[in-house]
Amino acid sequence: MPATSVLSDPHTHARACGLDPARLPRHAAVIMDGNGRWAKRRGWERFLGHRKGTESVRAVTTACVELGISRLTLYAFSSENWHRPRREVDYLMDLLAEFLRGEIPTMLDNGVRLTAIGQLDRLPAQVVSALDAARSATRDGTATNLCLALSYGGRDELVAACRQLAQRAVRGEIAPESIDAEALRSALYSPEDVDVVIRTAGERRMSNFLPWQAAYAEFIDHAALWPEFTRDDFLACLREYQGRERRFGCVTTS
Ligand code: IPE
Ligand code: IPE
Ligand code: MG
Repeated sequence: MPATSVLSDPHTHARACGLDPARLPRHAAVIMDGNGRWAKRRGWERFLGHRKGTESVRAVTTACVELGISRLTLYAFSSENWHRPRREVDYLMDLLAEFLRGEIPTMLDNGVRLTAIGQLDRLPAQVVSALDAARSATRDGTATNLCLALSYGGRDELVAACRQLAQRAVRGEIAPESIDAEALRSALYSPEDVDVVIRTAGERRMSNFLPWQAAYAEFIDHAALWPEFTRDDFLACLREYQGRERRFGCVTTS
């Protein structure tokens, strides 16, 4: 897995990829699915699909840097994924720690800033420390914010936000009737609206991913299993996104 670094201007890159630089998503999110199937089809253990999937993570992150997409959220481990067999969860956690530590030089080269959302206190100590190391090493990155959704559940996020607002109301810091959409948004793990959600492996579910932020996202499913999802596949998804008309509930004038 060679490290790649990015050198040229994002607008030039976008045009060379058949994309309109002015209409790229500011925030792309990916439900990385199909790792287990990829491995099973080869007669291998599911784990190997997770390992191979890290190459796709690098390819998509690098593409976002090249294109100047400022935020990329990747669904790496859901709240529900804790219910998978212990061996698989342990493998995923080890892989995550290894990936975070190994990826720091490439992220620094590419100006990537790593962040994370989810119930991070449920992660094992080695992952928390690898995450802290990667977040702190990359905190000045200005190209792309790579946000990993880890132990993430959209319902958990909404419950945590409601609880936080309720606690503030009980302390008398806010009036209950002042709670509006902006107040709820600002209590989320991360408030940024998502422009496009891409899901691999041909699935068409949200699986509890960013219910608030993706309320008006374009949804694109792609047939490739995550470990075989390439930079070109990602660019194809972005071209499909640019072919969509986003209306946000309004009527078009033309
Ligand atoms: C996605 O691949 C990775 C995680 C959920 C951690 P899966 O492991 O869900 O792969 P499939 O869907 O079983 O093929
Ligand atoms: C969603 O994939 C979670 C991640 C990609 C991390 P799953 O494979 O867990 O989702 P379902 O079970 O097919 O809905
Ligand atoms: Mg799956």
